[in-house]
Amino acid sequence: MQSRVITASVFAALLAVGCTTQEPKPMAAKDDKPALMTGASASMLANTCAGCHGTNGQSNGPATPTIAGMEADYLTEVMQAYKNDERVNTIMGRIAKGYSDEEIELMANALSKQSYMGMKQTSAGPKAQMGKKLHDNYCEKCHENGGTSVEDTPLAGQWMPYLQVTILDYLNGHNNPEKKMTKAIEKMVAEHPNMTMAQLAEDLSHYYASQK
Ligand code: HEC
Ligand code: HEC
Repeated sequence: MQSRVITASVFAALLAVGCTTQEPKPMAAKDDKPALMTGASASMLANTCAGCHGTNGQSNGPATPTIAGMEADYLTEVMQAYKNDERVNTIMGRIAKGYSDEEIELMANALSKQSYMGMKQTSAGPKAQMGKKLHDNYCEKCHENGGTSVEDTPLAGQWMPYLQVTILDYLNGHNNPEKKMTKAIEKMVAEHPNMTMAQLAEDLSHYYASQK
């Protein structure tokens, strides 16, 4: 276990790195690699994420997702998408830009070796029931066993507020999932003319939160 002090200082340094594009810091010239990252081990790189994503990637939520135990390929892909402004985000774009491709791969490998632990959350019965129906019809094919399958990325037990925002982003066409997922989403929206996208995202997120 790393001490909290180390984690906090690494985190502070990371934030400073993430902010260089907006407020250049005298200490870090723009294309300088942060000294901190040079020679850093994979687990140390992953620990820089702990300030937000929790120790070992198990987030205390609710707007920050748990990232432990996801497939290394998925983690790499998502980090690259953040880095290249191809995935909506509030903060990860700035953070991902602070890392080289190699560092991202190292971190993804370290995180993928942790085990995913979903968070038990209170969800609303009727919303979760509707969410289950939606999931079974449109999502189960890939997010198997009620979204508990860890292949790529588990949905069950992921933080509800995070999922709601993320699903809504997909429904609004902001992110670029694989084509078949886009088709499933478009079909779901088309077949539920009486539900808003926000309602669809809310019901689905209640279902995934109940699946733990
Ligand atoms: C300042 C807080 C913060 C820090 C530090 C942080 N993250 Fe994030 N992360 C977030 C938030 C918030 C999101 C949701 C997307 C967004 O709004 O940016 C997120 C999303 C993600 C996702 C997407 C997960 C999914 O389910 O698709 C990955 C992967 C990720 N972060 C990896 C990392 C890694 C690796 C680090 C360390 C280098 C890191 N994050 C550091 C706050 C943070
Ligand atoms: C054809 C397969 C497929 C279908 C159908 C599908 N997905 Fe996905 N989904 C994926 C894959 C692959 C990823 C990971 C990478 C990506 O974004 O392409 C993903 C990622 C996600 C994520 C991001 C998870 C995270 O941790 O941020 C969410 C949320 C999601 N899917 C929700 C849904 C919902 C809700 C449905 C049903 C309406 C659905 N998906 C249908 C394949 C699918």
